[in-house]
Amino acid sequence: MITFDIDKNSIYFKTLLKKIKKIHLFLHNDDENKNLGWVTHPVSTNSVLDKLVVARIKKFKYDTLVLVGVGGSINASRAIISALPTKINVIYIGENFENINSILDTLKTKKPLFHIMSSSGNTLEPLIALHQIEKFLTSNQMKINEHMLISTSNMQGYLYKYGVKHKINIITYPNNYPGRFSAIFNHLSNIILAKLDVNSFIQGAKDAYFELYKDLDNPCYHFAVNRIFNQTKKKKKIELISVFADQLKGIAEWYCQLISESEGKDNKGAFPVVMKMSKDLHSYEQFLQQGADICYEQFILTKDVDSSKYICPDKDCPSAQFSSMTFDEINSTCFSSVKAAHDKNKIPNNIILLDKLDEYNFGYLFYFFEKACAMSCMLKNIDPFSQPGVDDYKNNMKIKLSQNKK
Ligand code: PA5
Repeated sequence: MITFDIDKNSIYFKTLLKKIKKIHLFLHNDDENKNLGWVTHPVSTNSVLDKLVVARIKKFKYDTLVLVGVGGSINASRAIISALPTKINVIYIGENFENINSILDTLKTKKPLFHIMSSSGNTLEPLIALHQIEKFLTSNQMKINEHMLISTSNMQGYLYKYGVKHKINIITYPNNYPGRFSAIFNHLSNIILAKLDVNSFIQGAKDAYFELYKDLDNPCYHFAVNRIFNQTKKKKKIELISVFADQLKGIAEWYCQLISESEGKDNKGAFPVVMKMSKDLHSYEQFLQQGADICYEQFILTKDVDSSKYICPDKDCPSAQFSSMTFDEINSTCFSSVKAAHDKNKIPNNIILLDKLDEYNFGYLFYFFEKACAMSCMLKNIDPFSQPGVDDYKNNMKIKLSQNKK
């Protein structure tokens, strides 16, 4: 279960209600729309992966899962896998080019499974990684199609054609799930490969679908409206996503990508920053307390990190006051101290509290944030599904690489 403590600006919410209703109907009633497959996905007939696909991916023999992709094609998988206990060693490549060969070197004595994911099938970073992986596999006498899996939604893309040529297992997903809005479907295979509970994950998304559908007065739409209120009425420029548990860093980073790529257009939006506590209390916190008044904050919390007790061996140590408290309780004391300071300094904040770190809550939260993001953008007349700035970078890189070709 997740508890949302959202600052409800009821008067402002009412002024936007007509528009909220219109967007809500648009999101739910336009099955043909090329960007909206994710909205009804949790309750659609293809909400789970096809049995044959599952059977195929379960046949792979591996001790290390290597996820290869960038942006929306990888962030949701990393968010959930890094938060939950799994016996599979999972590593990530294909986001930059600096250390790919040294990482591949460490896999010589392992049984790796490389999962290459690219919605377009044409993104340079994962494609460059793909060819390094092929070289690694062939030079270590490993068969490409026994150690590689491909996911894409573009049958015209390079990745798909590569997969067909090399007889690699290919998972094709619908192309009406834009990258960063694909957390619920395109990442199911990785949840299965990491041996996590995929049914609970889908159930979480399903419950989110129903709970955030039946009534406009729901925490998701209040969250969206609150973000706009902070940005436009309070003129805040930075959105902090504050986490106190390492396990929640991944979802905070996933959220930052979702928000910045969807909303950062037309000179609008707030710049999202992950605050990792307690570490960042010893740096950014000073700015928050006394620097420019430009921030608002989302706390994403859980009480479920470490229930073992801290036993301080020395009563003279300042930390002795925490002795016999659980680490969860220490974490929560740290949070309440920060919250009190931020309230005093009038940094608006919301709290999202997960009772447990589990697949169900992740499924729920991904859906919640995707919908809130779409609602926030559309309320400000921003198209959440485009990324012209990112496309500029991708095109520039292609041009420059072709100019530099030896
Ligand atoms: O969210 C998005 O749409 C982007 O971040 C893409 O996921 C990212 O650019 C990778 O694109 P692709 O999946 O086509 O390789």
